[in-house]
Amino acid sequence: MSADSVNKKEKMFPTYSGSNDNLLVLLSKTSEIICKWFSDAEKIGPLPIDINFKCSVPDEFGNPTDILFSEIESLIYSSFNPVHPGSLAHLDPPPLIISILGDLISAGLNNNLLAHELSPSISLLEDSICKWFSNKIGFPESAGGIAASGGTLSNLNALVAARNHAGLETDQNAVFLISEDAHSSFIKCSQIMGLGKNNLIKVKSDNNGCMDILELEKSIKKCNEEGKKIFSIVATLGTTIRGAIDPIESISSICKERNIWLHIDGSIGGIFAITKIPINGISNLKFANSITINPQKILGITKTSSILLVSDIEVLKNTFTTGLPYISSENNVLNRGELGIQGSRPAEIIKLWLGLRFLGMQGIDDILNSSIVRRKFFENNLNKEKYKLCSGPLHIISFIPKDMNKFESDAWTLKKRKILMNNNIMLSRPLFKNRYFLRAVFGNYNTSETHINAILKLLD
Ligand SMILES: Cc1ncc(COP(=O)(O)O)c(C=O)c1O
Repeated sequence: MSADSVNKKEKMFPTYSGSNDNLLVLLSKTSEIICKWFSDAEKIGPLPIDINFKCSVPDEFGNPTDILFSEIESLIYSSFNPVHPGSLAHLDPPPLIISILGDLISAGLNNNLLAHELSPSISLLEDSICKWFSNKIGFPESAGGIAASGGTLSNLNALVAARNHAGLETDQNAVFLISEDAHSSFIKCSQIMGLGKNNLIKVKSDNNGCMDILELEKSIKKCNEEGKKIFSIVATLGTTIRGAIDPIESISSICKERNIWLHIDGSIGGIFAITKIPINGISNLKFANSITINPQKILGITKTSSILLVSDIEVLKNTFTTGLPYISSENNVLNRGELGIQGSRPAEIIKLWLGLRFLGMQGIDDILNSSIVRRKFFENNLNKEKYKLCSGPLHIISFIPKDMNKFESDAWTLKKRKILMNNNIMLSRPLFKNRYFLRAVFGNYNTSETHINAILKLLD
């Protein structure tokens, strides 16, 4: 081995003694590039016009960091920029600055939430933060939760636990019910659980995009007649296209009467439940068996950040415990990788904890409230004679022109999206009820009334 390669090898990992000067230089350089990219957002827009990035694949001898930095810069400058005030297309807000630090700390620690001995303090942190959330939504002392990499996984954890709790884990007649406006990832959950499409029952929603209770009752009756066994009803707290909230109170009564697990997919709206912001339909969450909350979708906790809360933590233990034979643990030590599907897990809870500590309840209220204020401002100023609006009590709004047939309105949304994009405003164009809508998600704290007025002008 040459002296050079020894030198390089020494710099591959943090040193266990000395001052890690090399790493400090790299961190500082990276921070500079990222901060400059944030500041350049106004010039570049939400999406760069030219994507210059060319992926270089790994080669035989590796590369010095100065070469890598030019590639890093090209990667960064070819990325979607959530910080730009025109970034309003999706549920991907700007990153909370303290959350960026949380990700860095998590990477630096490289602890593993699989096992207590691989993450003693962070396991405690995850347990405490999940209990704090549980407490805020009124769950009992028996409650707890687990972080997962995204809402899809949190929902999957809940559904697997619900089916197990009902004793239907191998029953081919096991079904779960969602509204027709629930997120598409429930199809994945059904496939992964070996249920297929027929065991995922979609209940019609009403004109406001909320699960229709009469239709729910009809679906339950039909399931009973067909010998299908319902292990969970999923209520969505904030649908993806319009932010509608299913009638949680009525659904929870139905679930209670029939002893069915109520799961709330609060990936979008669940975070509002920990605040005092008055939102129609967010009450009595404490009657649910489980709820998904995704702080990544609006609070600015960097991806991924999702937690599943359950009213009885024993159900997660009973469902997912394997004994983890290759980890030696003292009795009564909970290895948190035994509470969900994921094994090795990063310390995503650090950035959530730091974000919550940094903001406090007032800061959380401010971010969430301001998103609703922006949506209302847009909605109040959009010409109602001209547009059909689909919205709810949250920060999402979708719209299409009235008085156009499908062909015309699909073409209109395509054209307008391009015009908006040319003016550095990025809205999405979701397919909803067989039509393409334009959708604005007002979770971006940098978007002001001036920006919204610019959008309204471009739409006219
Ligand atoms: C209502 C709802 N549930 C679940 C999900 C899935 O969450 P994730 O993308 O974090 O897996 C989404 C994603 O947008 C969503 O809108």
